[in-house]
Amino acid sequence: MALINIKIEGHSYQVEDGLTILEAARRCGYEIPSLCAFNHGECNRGSCRVCLVEATGARGLVASCVYPVNEGIEITISSPKATAARRTSVELMLSNHSMKCQQCDKNGRCELLHVAKLTGAREDMFLGAKTPTTIDKVNPSIVRDTSKCILCGRCIARCQNAHGNGVLGFENRGFATIVGPAGNRSFDKSPCIMCGQCVNVCPTGALMEKSEISAVDAAMEAGKYIVVQTSPAVRAALGEEFGMKIGSSVGGKMVAALKRLGFKKVYDTDYAADLAVMEEVAELKNRMENGGVLPMITSCSPGWINYAETYYSDLLGHISTCKSPHEMFGSIVKSYYAEKNGLDPKDIFVLSIMPCVAKKFEKERPQLQHDGIKDVDAVLTTRELGDLIKRSGIIFKELPDEDFDKDLLGEASGAGAIYGVTGGVMEAALRTLYKQLSGKEHDSFKFEELRGFEGVKEASFEVNGKTVNVAVAHGMKNAKLLLDDIKAGKSKYQFIEIMGCPGGCINGGGQPYVRPCFLPNEDYDILDTYKEKRAAALYAEDEKNALRQSHNNAQVQQLYKDFLGEPNSAKAKQLLHTSYAARPAFKD
Ligand code: FES
Repeated sequence: MALINIKIEGHSYQVEDGLTILEAARRCGYEIPSLCAFNHGECNRGSCRVCLVEATGARGLVASCVYPVNEGIEITISSPKATAARRTSVELMLSNHSMKCQQCDKNGRCELLHVAKLTGAREDMFLGAKTPTTIDKVNPSIVRDTSKCILCGRCIARCQNAHGNGVLGFENRGFATIVGPAGNRSFDKSPCIMCGQCVNVCPTGALMEKSEISAVDAAMEAGKYIVVQTSPAVRAALGEEFGMKIGSSVGGKMVAALKRLGFKKVYDTDYAADLAVMEEVAELKNRMENGGVLPMITSCSPGWINYAETYYSDLLGHISTCKSPHEMFGSIVKSYYAEKNGLDPKDIFVLSIMPCVAKKFEKERPQLQHDGIKDVDAVLTTRELGDLIKRSGIIFKELPDEDFDKDLLGEASGAGAIYGVTGGVMEAALRTLYKQLSGKEHDSFKFEELRGFEGVKEASFEVNGKTVNVAVAHGMKNAKLLLDDIKAGKSKYQFIEIMGCPGGCINGGGQPYVRPCFLPNEDYDILDTYKEKRAAALYAEDEKNALRQSHNNAQVQQLYKDFLGEPNSAKAKQLLHTSYAARPAFKD
């Protein structure tokens, strides 16, 4: 990219042509307040006017997030006119805001309050009528409160970019404008897949996960036997809630915190990921050898399952019937573990700590309950766990490293750890599929073509003179490409991994917010690199583990020996498998 000469605040700089003023200024060491602009143009509507500056050649003030730099441009950020205009923009937003800041779950992480501070918007300058409010908290995953919405459009852009669904949009006109599903429906009655990517980008508390911290408090108070399980992606990101660098692996401190919070048992969901691999590979092998429906598609991502049931119900037969790992874990805790420990399943409370907002919805599915007892009783996101730890007064950074509980359900392979990143579920399954088909271990644990963040990845491998073709997609926009090929009878694959969130669980809707304005110790390009950093933490964990393949997990082998029989046995089907059903896109 050619370099051009610009001036900011009277100082000369050279920057790449094609940048916006906002981006150029940041590279030259100036932070212009901004709100609706996000992630290098992912949302660039220029609507909030918080980033106004003066620029030569422009008539009046310009929105720096959309106005491009040009040769010789002189930019003034700090003039009285620009400063006052930015402050007025924020004051106008605050005038239509609920201002219940101390009750808001975004307290401490609100970008509106951040820019209010930066611009000096302290007075209630524009008191008057407010837009009528909708609060939608019907579904188990996401709460929408329009009284906190600033109409920035980030959520609309993220839903469209990740999934191509366009579930969220602007409704009404003028002062009555709000953001929501069509017709201002509840999420529950819309084709939303509950992934929570909209929550991840919302600058205020207008879109939040539905907190279940009070349900956990109640279980604790009731003296329930609480078994916690944590997904691998959680420990690759939880440190961020405590100011640690992105990509820090904090599993040991996380376990120490959970034990100090008073939970009876703390296990790694990776054990159940190994179990899921065993069940899924047996199912695939059976389909391959007996003319079953192919390609088979993975089933661990509840956002993807919601999408399939809503948009591709004619392909439900392609989806593995395996429950997701945390649901398998819950089911095994309330059967095998309860039996071994002489516990009544009714007294056990399974708490999943997940990077995912859709898992809150998933745990309520009727198919994931036996005799009225849910496999999993509550799901907290990584962010909620951060809140729980902060509330307890624990100084996370100072905790020692402690180990997960190891009895019965405590062994976990590296294959389970990489479940948390796009391509990881497939890689874990291939390690075991190769062994099941050939009787030998694969000589490399790595399937390099399946790593990285390309929207669709594919690989082929030879086993016993046969070629197995596999593909991986993350984000529904990418998945759609593979699904449309299946519908058209053009798919060349036997096995496909689909994850709802772009990047997989490491970028789940319940992971810590990545906001450069709140991350002074991270590089400016952190929005480009955070997924790689979190993924690297999981790949490193896999490499450090002496046990790399799910089928070599001794406690999983013991579970089959003592309790389930073999993968896909009648008992395994009853406890570890599920079913799907078409659902209408809109309900009224
Ligand atoms: Fe530029 Fe909103 S950040 S107009």
